[in-house]
Amino acid sequence: MTVLTTRVDTRSDEFAANRDAMLAKLDELAAEHAKAVAGGGEKYVERHRKRGKLLARERIELLVDEDSPFLELSPLAAWGTDFAVGASIVTGIGVVEGVECMIIASDPTVKGGTSNPYTLRKSFRAADIAAQNNLPTINLVESGGADLPTQKDIFIPGGRIFRDLTRASAERRPTVALVFGNSTAGGAYLPGMSDYVVMVKERAKVFLGGPPLVKMATGEEADDESLGGADMHARQSGLADYLAVDEQDAIRLGRRIIARLNWRKQGPAPKPDYAEPLADPEDLLGIVPTDLKVPFDPREVIARVVDGSEFDEFKPLYGTSLVTGWADVHGYPVGILANAQGVLFSEESQKAAQFIQLANQTDTPLIFLHNTTGYMVGSKYEQGGIIKHGAQMINAVSNSKVPHISILMGASYGAGHYGMCGRAYDPRFLFAWPSAKSAVMGAQQLAGVLSLVARAAAESRGTPYDEDQDAAMRAMVEQQIEAESMPMFLSGLLYDDGIIDPRDTRTVLGMCLSVIHNAPVKGADGFGVFRM
Ligand code: COA
Repeated sequence: MTVLTTRVDTRSDEFAANRDAMLAKLDELAAEHAKAVAGGGEKYVERHRKRGKLLARERIELLVDEDSPFLELSPLAAWGTDFAVGASIVTGIGVVEGVECMIIASDPTVKGGTSNPYTLRKSFRAADIAAQNNLPTINLVESGGADLPTQKDIFIPGGRIFRDLTRASAERRPTVALVFGNSTAGGAYLPGMSDYVVMVKERAKVFLGGPPLVKMATGEEADDESLGGADMHARQSGLADYLAVDEQDAIRLGRRIIARLNWRKQGPAPKPDYAEPLADPEDLLGIVPTDLKVPFDPREVIARVVDGSEFDEFKPLYGTSLVTGWADVHGYPVGILANAQGVLFSEESQKAAQFIQLANQTDTPLIFLHNTTGYMVGSKYEQGGIIKHGAQMINAVSNSKVPHISILMGASYGAGHYGMCGRAYDPRFLFAWPSAKSAVMGAQQLAGVLSLVARAAAESRGTPYDEDQDAAMRAMVEQQIEAESMPMFLSGLLYDDGIIDPRDTRTVLGMCLSVIHNAPVKGADGFGVFRM
């Protein structure tokens, strides 16, 4: 057993500067999160309350067990777009009657809770997380259906939501719909495809076509209640299994449904006792340098995240730019891969490939701590086989079957993002710190590459190269790439599951590991061909 000792000087100027920069970024983040919480804004929130209704987050708060945390996902979805921050839906994992459930709540204060292209992406991500981690799903429904002006981007792919619900049921992952208000047209299939349906009396309205559409289609004059009222569905159509007298009653009924699921987690239980880290997680604010080109020792992060700061490092003397080793987080065994010097060389790649195979042999989940500028380039490294060694690492990551969790601490560039289990490699969860940056390469390098290509093209044409124009182009491209590499931008596009305070890393990892263990945890029986 090895206990990590810290070398961080918390009284240094550098530490103070890093900490100040991180706190400033956390302030910016809090302001953006507040926008998501504000939903459609004061006017619509007030109107909603006057109607005697609870807000989406209040419904969730009442639904989950008292004082239990809610792991909200993708709160900044649609950030930087024309749509409201949060994408008119709240998703996350909460504990209901002791069962970890995926909770999806439409926010009726934002455009009537309608779904735009980002709402869809966020719903898909929630459905994927529920499927991969074997979670029951509870939909809190009150939505006007499709955001009609953007229907072309949502109508056809949007069918997946209903497909996912019924596939969940086929896989014995229960689905519950609590209907608080409108659930029309396609939205009617949310309760339609769910295992259990609760509707709130005189509030829930579930129909394929509302009164105007019915009048247009068939000429029939019908009212809301007879077309899709909760009472009618509970007594006549049978679509509602339970009739709730009000919202609180619907939530109570939802909790009773979950209590009766006889739910059993399929993964192994954590160790009953574990120690908190010896090093102070508060220090995580001052560890990441403001300039990501300056490396930092990821063992300082590991010491503040794992149980008892205990870390058994694997191959510590080989491929030292990548740290690998074994630890526990909240009693769950994990393997950790963490970038140290930024660049991945052949040795690091092969070490990673071996380590990932070892984790699969022992059914041990993996945590990837990103701070990489990518695989090393240059003739010496190409001749040494960096492509095939990087490919070995990417093969191991792609075919590994143990659960992966990625945390973007700093840089996550180029194929290094792939090798470290970036978004496309299906980590069960991927969170970013406010200090993270991710792109095909650094902004300066990318602008420089474009400039060299343009210069060579001018030379081959025999035309003079305009240096002023080149400088302007480089500045513009640098600015654009820098903006597109920032975590809020990437979070807006749903390329992560959220941006977290570094101090919360241990808690978030613990919650994710607990969620992951709803499904069996088993390593791969085989990998693709490792090119030697
Ligand atoms: N697409 C785009 N915007 C929509 C919308 C939709 N389907 N439904 C509502 N909105 C907008 C409204 O235009 C309004 O915008 P504004 O405040 O900027 O003027 C805002 O959302 C709130 O709508 P409002 O009708 O004032 O809210 P409400 O709470 O009284 O009613 C609904 C909400 C959803 C019941 C009602 O708007 C409705 O029936 N919408 C149409 C539903 C429908 O037919 N959907 C098609 C599904 S395929």
